[in-house]
Amino acid sequence: MSLSKWVNQRVPVSDFFDHHLRQYYVPKNLNIWYLFGVFAMVVLVNQLLSGFFLVMYYTPTGDDAFSSVEFIMREVPYGWLIRYLHTTGASAFFIVIFMHMYRSIMYGSYRKPREILWLSGCILFLSLMAEAYTGYVLPWGQMSFWATKVIISIIQLIPIGGEAIAQWVMGDVSVSEVTLHRFFAFHVILFPAIILAMVFLHIIFLHCVGSNNPDGVTPKQIIDGVPKGYVPFHPYITTKDIAYVTLFLLLFLAVVFYAPRMGGYFIEAENYAPANPLVTPAHIRPVWYLSPFFAILRAIPSQSLGAVAMVLSLVLLFLLPWLDSSPVRSIRYKGPYCQVALGIFVVSFVGLGVVGNLPPSHWVTILGRAFTLGYFSFFLLMPLYSRFDRFKRPPGVSGL
Ligand code: HEM
Repeated sequence: MSLSKWVNQRVPVSDFFDHHLRQYYVPKNLNIWYLFGVFAMVVLVNQLLSGFFLVMYYTPTGDDAFSSVEFIMREVPYGWLIRYLHTTGASAFFIVIFMHMYRSIMYGSYRKPREILWLSGCILFLSLMAEAYTGYVLPWGQMSFWATKVIISIIQLIPIGGEAIAQWVMGDVSVSEVTLHRFFAFHVILFPAIILAMVFLHIIFLHCVGSNNPDGVTPKQIIDGVPKGYVPFHPYITTKDIAYVTLFLLLFLAVVFYAPRMGGYFIEAENYAPANPLVTPAHIRPVWYLSPFFAILRAIPSQSLGAVAMVLSLVLLFLLPWLDSSPVRSIRYKGPYCQVALGIFVVSFVGLGVVGNLPPSHWVTILGRAFTLGYFSFFLLMPLYSRFDRFKRPPGVSGL
């Protein structure tokens, strides 16, 4: 008896792969926007592998954290490569996830019946932010230390229980090496476990309802149990994905080898100095992918209302499936109101990212407020503009 037969009689591995690859059908009009999910998986594997090797040399104590990272960069064979794979991977993760989320917004992939899939994505997004933030603290450089202080002060602003949560997160009365050790535990155990579990669920949820597509329509016509215009995931999509993943990795490695700091956006210049509680850096700025949310916080004159607005900006993502009342899913068939609103959303989000990174000034405040207004209008006015908008009927479809 062959080994595969022996295994399959006990655990139906082949059936599982058939069910999720060869007999899993997807629309054949999926375009390049549908590559970002698989890119996210590739980056996740990169983060887990490079993180595993970093942990072999990293020491999470106040005295040694900074120098252990320097040791990895200078003394450990290929330590610089492992670290740059990890730091570049963190930024790549957010680039890929922002594109992945934008695609879902563009094509209405959050709409019925994919609400739970979307919600699992939102939880993943929050977990990724927490994972990135706790990782940023670990090199224990100046920006690690002071950015932690800023975030802790934001947590303290939460009206009910803020102080208690902040103290639990810090493990001390102020940010100290106890905090560092705690963040290490969050970064290497808690959040990776949550992310892995959520990715697993995300894919299960996706396979329960199937992929949406750029037209946002599900064909009514079924031929031999398969919707018209659908192809098996393997080999049609897998071969395409492998080709694009190769290209993605080439680009990714080009950054790792030739521009790992990316002008200070992927690794901050300030973080090359060890954490010093007595010297505040002139301009404490958040890492680029968190800066849109930081800009919202700064745009509101009252600090505690700013914290509420920042939390709300994330909560609104969860509510998206219930805010959109357009009769069609995809932006291709939505009318001018929805299209303009999506444009305003993109400009506002990118704008928030830019101003969140600039030192405070009169113009930064004005622009920050305008972009915050744009961001919130997209969500809060959606029930109105999506309802009263014109729409085009997708070809060959009588409704959604
Ligand atoms: C670690 C993070 C993530 C991984 C590894 C991941 C992976 C994937 C994969 C492989 C797919 C199928 C291919 C594709 O449609 O691109 C997918 C689909 C989807 N993901 Fe994610 N995802 C992640 C995060 C997110 C986030 C943050 C959101 C939204 C908040 C999200 C929402 C969706 C939706 C709505 C779909 C279905 C899209 C469609 O069918 O049009 N995902 N995801």
